[in-house]
Amino acid sequence: MTIAMIEAHNITKYFGLKNKKSFKALDNVSLNISKGEFAVISGRSGSGKSTLLYILSAMDNSYEGTVWLDDQKLSGMNDRELSRIRNRKLGFVFQFHFLLPHFSVLQNVLLPAMKNSGISERECRGKALEKLQWLGIEHLADMPSQKLSGGQQQRVAIARALMNEPDIIMADEPTGNLDRQNSELVFQIFRRLRSEKNKTILVVTHDKDLAQTADRVIYMEDGKILNPDHYL
Ligand SMILES: Nc1ncnc2c1ncn2[C@@H]1O[C@H](COP(=O)(O)OP(=O)(O)OP(=O)(O)O)[C@@H](O)[C@H]1O
Ligand SMILES: [Mg+2]
Repeated sequence: MTIAMIEAHNITKYFGLKNKKSFKALDNVSLNISKGEFAVISGRSGSGKSTLLYILSAMDNSYEGTVWLDDQKLSGMNDRELSRIRNRKLGFVFQFHFLLPHFSVLQNVLLPAMKNSGISERECRGKALEKLQWLGIEHLADMPSQKLSGGQQQRVAIARALMNEPDIIMADEPTGNLDRQNSELVFQIFRRLRSEKNKTILVVTHDKDLAQTADRVIYMEDGKILNPDHYL
């Protein structure tokens, strides 16, 4: 039997006031992602992928339904509790890397962790170097991030997301700005995170070929999942 790391029951999300003019972006969505599973959410633009991911990642708490991350019920938690869960459990990778351009790669990786965890700079530095090494970019540690290629910058963003040793990695179109080779590299990293570190991975992507390299693809249309609990 597999154990769920991410569980969502009957999620409905409206944008705007809940009246005639409001828009139903998610319509009674339920899903289960097992521990150590690499799942992808795919579907047309506007189908609700990002909206769902932001709810599952504790960034949005205005919805109907219930979400659990590793048996902790998010629904009903206040902002402070949600941000604690995000820091402890989750690493998030965005389409845009949001690195500080003039800061070094190492500083970009360690500064958010230092701020959020209260761990000493020395310890954070060691951890950051270890992450960069695992990703094969430790030789870039002292470079200003703006001097890196797009693919390298996205790998730095992944290193930053790994700093707190999160059990879950989520990403919204992490290859949206990358060429083919770098996109494949990013997905290869996700597969390694699953197989070597037993992370649970949930990634939104438009890319059909990349999606097929995950354990499972969840298809969305008009705020619904087309293939609930269908394993490929
Ligand atoms: N803040 C918002 N206010 C109003 N409507 C919104 C808001 N955010 C998203 N929507 C609407 O909800 C629907 C789902 O949006 P969402 O961003 O989740 O789609 P998506 O599947 O991620 O699309 P894309 O592939 O283009 O990123 C869309 O119709 C969108 O216009
Ligand atoms: Mg989106």
